[in-house]
Amino acid sequence: MMSDKKSNSLKRVTILKPWKVGRGFATDATIVPFRGDAREFLRTLPNKIVSLVVTSPPYNIGKVYEERASLDQYRADQSRLISELHRVLKDDGSVCWQVGSFVDKGEIYPLDLLFYDIFKLFGFKLRNRIIWHYRHGLHASRRFSGRYETILWFTKGDEYAFNLDDVRIPAIYPGKRYYKGPKKGKPSANPKGKNPSDVWEIISRDWQLGFWDIPNVKAYHPEKTIQPCQFPVELAERCVLALTKKADWVLDPYAGVGSTLVAAAMHGRRSMGSEKERKYYNIILQRLEALRKGDLRLRPLGRPVHVPTGNEKVAQIPDEWNRTKRRGR
Ligand SMILES: C[S@@+](CC[C@H](N)C(=O)[O-])C[C@H]1O[C@@H](n2cnc3c(N)ncnc32)[C@H](O)[C@@H]1O
Repeated sequence: MMSDKKSNSLKRVTILKPWKVGRGFATDATIVPFRGDAREFLRTLPNKIVSLVVTSPPYNIGKVYEERASLDQYRADQSRLISELHRVLKDDGSVCWQVGSFVDKGEIYPLDLLFYDIFKLFGFKLRNRIIWHYRHGLHASRRFSGRYETILWFTKGDEYAFNLDDVRIPAIYPGKRYYKGPKKGKPSANPKGKNPSDVWEIISRDWQLGFWDIPNVKAYHPEKTIQPCQFPVELAERCVLALTKKADWVLDPYAGVGSTLVAAAMHGRRSMGSEKERKYYNIILQRLEALRKGDLRLRPLGRPVHVPTGNEKVAQIPDEWNRTKRRGR
């Protein structure tokens, strides 16, 4: 198996050039990490400059139903931010808004419902509601364990970039042929691969199942930092490759530890992002510098998720369970 470092040198990765980091927006900068409030940062940007927004917002909603005002406040704050995003987005630009559910006393509140309404108010058009499926997480005992979040992909208008060929995945049965009609006997699959669908589970073995699995970023993951809600760079990479071209501006208003900025810079796009916490902002700077020097630890796009063979110790039925079974006989 290749080391993470070696396998990072995927041929398709073209690090951004020129690499010019600005601490505030400047037309000649190519990477702009901003330490501070998102709306304060957005106010400094010109109209219609950004091609793509990829982000996951904070869920600081408080109690959803007992303190209704808090949810209303959250909606109002996010609406103000989205209004600014609308202003800075190009007419053919896109937004990929990654959210899960807010949970309050066992009741779940799917945040994409709330955000869908806000984006529609500004005239955005939903192109996909992508399911990001992962295998790990808290085990619920009074409802089914949650194993997905969503990414709402909106476009600002009717015209938009969509580079399907750049994100195609191998066909399950490339050898399939038309069995009737004028093309009878000819291969029916697209030689460039198939559309990856709106269920994202990046896992080459499971390409057979038509799934993409971007493993949830957890402690064992090569990208893991101290940010508890980090998303995998791979997730942002899909969006960047499909929805922008080289040198386009990609923005993450809630940058966390900079996964979106890293994904954009890896593929020759300009990027900017705001993060209010200094400790996360410092990690953005460290990750970008590591990327520039070629030693950032990343999970490469499309690497298979580890699938247990069944021989691992953790995959065996515990002895205690077998003993209990024997006693109960
Ligand atoms: C869900 S995390 C994003 C994680 C990010 N996707 C990553 O992979 O690292 C949301 C981030 O938004 C930041 N944040 C919250 N409110 C903010 C604001 N008003 N302005 C800027 N950043 C904010 C939080 O500190 C947090 O790091």
